[in-house]
This record gives sequence, C-alpha cells and structure tokens, in this order.
Amino acid sequence: MQSKLNFAHLPTPVEALPRLSARLKGPQIFIKRDDQTGLALGGNKIRKLEFLLADAQAHGARTLITAGAVQSNHCRQTAAAAARTGFACILVLTGERPPNPTGNNFLDLFLGAEIVWAGGSDREQVLDQTFDTVLKTGGKPYLIPYGGSNAIGALGYVFAMQELLDQDPSLDWIVFPSSSGGTHAGLALGGRMFGYHGGILGISIDNLASELSQKVAMLAEETANCLGEDHRFSAQDILVNDDYLGAGYGVMGEPEIEALSMFARSEGMLLDPVYTGRAAAGLIDLIRNGFFTADQKILFWHTGGTPALFADQYLSRLLKP
Ligand SMILES: Cc1ncc(COP(=O)(O)O)c(C=O)c1O
Repeated sequence: MQSKLNFAHLPTPVEALPRLSARLKGPQIFIKRDDQTGLALGGNKIRKLEFLLADAQAHGARTLITAGAVQSNHCRQTAAAAARTGFACILVLTGERPPNPTGNNFLDLFLGAEIVWAGGSDREQVLDQTFDTVLKTGGKPYLIPYGGSNAIGALGYVFAMQELLDQDPSLDWIVFPSSSGGTHAGLALGGRMFGYHGGILGISIDNLASELSQKVAMLAEETANCLGEDHRFSAQDILVNDDYLGAGYGVMGEPEIEALSMFARSEGMLLDPVYTGRAAAGLIDLIRNGFFTADQKILFWHTGGTPALFADQYLSRLLKP
C-alpha cells in the first residue's frame, strides 16, 4: 500500500445547492467542495499530491519538477505542497513569461517556485532537459506527471470516492471536469471498490471522448494494480461527454460565462473559467435537455481552480457593463 502525507483538509464538505436546483427546475444538485482542500486555495491536485509527495520522499528526492499551462492549477498546488513539505519546486510552463503574472502564475512565484518558460520550444523537451540538469547538479529531482495523473496520484480520488460515499451513498450521478484523467480514474476505481452504483460522468475539457475514456480506463487498471486489486476497465466503462469543448482549452465562451455567473449569483459559489466553468456549463445543458431529470440527485464535484478567475484574460471578460 502506498503511503501518503497529510496536508489536505478532509473530508471536504458536501453542500446542497437548492437555489440553483430551483432556478434550473431540475434535479437536486449537491456540490463537493474540493476547492476547499486546504492548501493555497485548494483544488483536486492536493489529494493526488498527498500520495505523490510521499513517494518523492520515499525516493529521497529534494526537488519536485512538473509542467503545465501558464494558469495551471496543478502547478500552483505543486508549488504550495512543495513549500509545505520542504521540497524545492521547478515548474516548466508553456510559452513566454507574461509581463504581469496574475492568477495561478502569480501564486507560483509567490509560493517560491522556480519557473522555466518553454518559450517557442517543445515543453516536454524542456522538461526533460530541466530534469537532467537537476539530476547532474545533485538536486535529486522527482518528476510529477502532467496533472499529477499517474497511478499514484489517482489514489487520491479512489479514497475521495470512499469519503463521498460515507457522506452520501444515494447519489444518482457524479459530474466533474475531466482532463488528464487522474481524477476520473480514481473515481471510477473507487466507485467499483466501495460499491457506488450511480453514474460517474466526466465532462471533457480538452480531449475527444474516445481518447479520454481509453486513457482513463488504462489508468484505472494501473491504479488498481498499485493497490494490489484486480479490477478490469474498458473504455465502455468510462463515461465521458465531449460536447462542451467549445473553442478549445482555456478559451472561456458564453456557456462558461453563463455557468460561472449562475453559480455565483444563485449560490455565492465561485467556479473557475477553464475546468469547473466548462463542466458546470455541461451540467446546466444536460439538465435543460432532459438528460438529468427532476427526480434525481446529482453531485457536482468542484475540483477547484478559482485563482484563474483573477487571471487578466478572464477577469476582464467576466464583469459585463
Ligand atoms: C480545477 C481543475 N479541475 C479539473 C481538472 C482535471 O483533473 P484531471 O487532470 O485529474 O482530469 C484540473 C486539472 O488540471 C483542474 O485544475
């Protein structure tokens, strides 16, 4: 069994959203507050990082290295977890340094992470070079995969599912944003292991359903192996909806803006423009088109990301005159 560190605030609360349910004239909607996992504005990566950092410690590592987009929530949470547990942290980010770092990128720097900008080069190549340099100079690097999504990271969501079922075993559906697949794989395996019989629906943020469901199925099996459990998954076992990809990763469109403002103004609930905003837009649409019905109980898993609200490119578009 993999060991874990303990820096998350768990269990995260489950709350009813009655005003949102009434506004949509639909099912009872609940929200699981993984935006409140407790470290540097929280989010879903904190659960994964509890396992990943225990593994890094077990390997005698001193420097955590990971990669992501400029507004990566994963990178910000890695920087925070590194500071909390005494690792150095290097983040390899896409593109060029913005003139005024905002949102997550501001927090990366404020939390003391070193940032390597990939610029016009291939980010994966820059990541490999960064790893080699740290290795050669004795920094004992530990590579955290994109989104923290390997079998060790996904363990965080296996046990998150157990936590949820202890809070409410009667949910018909769980809906959440799915991107690098670790959250989804953990929930799918946790659902099997702890006896959840409702639907687990990932709203894809940036991948075709055919590709993401295959990837999640493989990762769920690897995660089961990591626990010494024998569970088989095929792509058909993994539900992904890719109807809400819009204009691509990180591009906030009208559906996301509507979802963000509906959650904020009906319930005082802040979502993020990239992940939970898109997944909530999917949830709203699936209620409106009758996929979810009024007699059901739906849990929206809030996976965090709210610091991105304060990134220049989103902030300016969210307040309309
Ligand atoms: C706020 C937020 N929600 C959801 C996700 C997707 O989770 P996963 O990468 O485990 O699919 C991410 C990943 O970066 C995220 O930052």
